[in-house]
Amino acid sequence: MDLSDLRHLAIIMDGNGRWAKSRGWRRTRGHRAGVDSVRNCVTECARAGLPWLTLYALSTENYRARPATEVRTLMALLRRFMIDERPTLMENRVRLETAGRLDELPDKVVRTIRETEAMTAGNSGMTLCLALNYGGRSELADAAKEIARSVKSGKLDLEAVDEAALAARLYQPKMPDVDLLIRTAGEVRISNFLLWQVSYAEIWVTETCWPDFRKPQLEAAVTAFRRRSRRFGGLLPEETK
Ligand code: FPP
Repeated sequence: MDLSDLRHLAIIMDGNGRWAKSRGWRRTRGHRAGVDSVRNCVTECARAGLPWLTLYALSTENYRARPATEVRTLMALLRRFMIDERPTLMENRVRLETAGRLDELPDKVVRTIRETEAMTAGNSGMTLCLALNYGGRSELADAAKEIARSVKSGKLDLEAVDEAALAARLYQPKMPDVDLLIRTAGEVRISNFLLWQVSYAEIWVTETCWPDFRKPQLEAAVTAFRRRSRRFGGLLPEETK
């Protein structure tokens, strides 16, 4: 698979619950199946040479508003993934990063995530960023607070507050702008995901639920992306005539 024209692919992995319910199963079974899709997608993207992949694994709203049993299952799956996938991440030279308010997650889960981050920190291949207890508005509010603190303490001049100053205070300052945003399971919404970074992203939505997302869907998304003309607010050369 050729992903050479992408720097950053971001995915809203939706539809685990619907996938399971439509088969008469519990929602948590959908999350379990979703982990297989995560493994598959990470491996495909890493092997295709993608520089950066961000997966929306848990929004702040998911964490606060889902039933406790479902959140417990998600935490357990996440911790297991962090341990079980270490050999695959190392083999594919994937560096793990996170974005979100991790301090609100259970200590045991955070410790395991930190261990995997440390273990993979020297890998030079794809960066896999998991958005966990993540909200785009919280990210911007946290960055604004950081800026206010720096201005107040005299470390930052008010006149130097610009887009670059804000971008430097996001959860992952090195994260490139999103080129392609994929959402599974049909809803056409951003759902508070990477609000700053998706400003010029191409958006591709599929009816396929996340547990069924595999290479053919990924290829379809990338093919659609290549057909788009990205103007970034400007004009294409032939449009200026
Ligand atoms: C959306 O499905 C998905 C989530 C809230 C969680 C995504 C989690 C995983 C794919 C598994 C764990 C992740 C990792 C990285 C190991 P939904 O439940 O909102 O689906 P619905 O809209 O059909 O109810």
